[in-house]
Amino acid sequence: MTALKNDRFLRALLKQPVDVTPVWMMRQAGRYLPEYRASRAHAGDFMSLCMNPEFACEVTMQPLDRYPQLDAAILFSDILTIPDAMGQGLYFETGEGPRFKKVVSTLADIEALPIPDPHKDLGYVMDAVSTIRRELNGRVPLIGFSGSPWTLATYMVEGGSSKDFRKTKAMLYDNPQAMHLLLDKLAQSVTSYLNGQIMAGAQAVQIFDTWGGNLSSAAYQEFSLAYMRKIVSGLIREHEGRKVPVIMFTKGGGLWLESIADAGADALGLDWTCDLGEARQRVGNRVALQGNMDPTVLYAKPEAIRTEVGRILASYGKGSGHVFNLGHGITPEVNPEHAGAFLRAVHELSAQYHE
Ligand code: CP3
Repeated sequence: MTALKNDRFLRALLKQPVDVTPVWMMRQAGRYLPEYRASRAHAGDFMSLCMNPEFACEVTMQPLDRYPQLDAAILFSDILTIPDAMGQGLYFETGEGPRFKKVVSTLADIEALPIPDPHKDLGYVMDAVSTIRRELNGRVPLIGFSGSPWTLATYMVEGGSSKDFRKTKAMLYDNPQAMHLLLDKLAQSVTSYLNGQIMAGAQAVQIFDTWGGNLSSAAYQEFSLAYMRKIVSGLIREHEGRKVPVIMFTKGGGLWLESIADAGADALGLDWTCDLGEARQRVGNRVALQGNMDPTVLYAKPEAIRTEVGRILASYGKGSGHVFNLGHGITPEVNPEHAGAFLRAVHELSAQYHE
């Protein structure tokens, strides 16, 4: 394998010294880019982009070609590949988000769910990872990812996106044993899926717990964090002679940072509702931090974006252990030039915080 030409992302996740603060954006390959929209039209639809390794590679590279400041690539795929591989029948209704043909409602439904084999059932994702690694040729590290068991469970039980998670919450409180069985199967599936991605060439992995913040404090511990901890303890942590850092991102998890920091990950993703400097104090030396600019700041003009980047960098202060990112995914309405201004500001304004 080619040596990495830019490893500041991996170094910052392990709190090793860097020259400037590394940066990438959640959902960096997406609809705000005209070249992405063109590829999607060419492929036919979103799932065809995910399932064809050449297309997945093409759209993964698009933001890197446009923005030389990006310090990491993220596999182009979706968290819902796992439920799809469990037989739920994922499809996307234009403008409506993800949907499943089959919904998980009963203990019998859960008992019948298979644990997908990453190579047999999700081989297209493994192929996308190795194709992207080859194409990157050491330019920047490649991030693999998965949804957290809790976040995946919400989509499987609701049958798609939800505002209030009525069915999932009802199952959790009515039938906690059924919910635990579902989460346990998902944790096993996620562990082997992420290990498959690591063996195929992912150099760091992120667990997206998009809906963990919707739980009560007690339920978060029992139904989300416990399963992420289990996953992390089963992951391959070193490959090709380098550490493979794990990033745990619970959106809305700001109140629970101390316990998340103890769950075994190398870094925590933060949304924009917590102050980065305070978060650093709270987690101490245990983990690195990733985040946390409000993605809607990108609707403002480049000068205002730069000011906000400066404020966040100052809040973190001196030293390594911070990967700059948005606090959640970039939205389709963002002007690509504003994203460029954001990325440039991170590198230009952060040099002063590193030796
Ligand atoms: O970050 C990246 O560039 C990598 C690609 C990526 C996608 N989805 C591509 C995508 C990643 C990391 C995801 C993760 C994902 N998918 C999450 C967790 C992250 C988060 O945002 O909290 C979730 C909850 C999903 C499920 C999902 N996939 C939803 C709810 C939707 C519809 C969203 C929407 O805006 O319509 C998707 C579709 C999806 N996944 C798109 C992309 C680029 C848009 C599809 C399109 O082109 O129309």
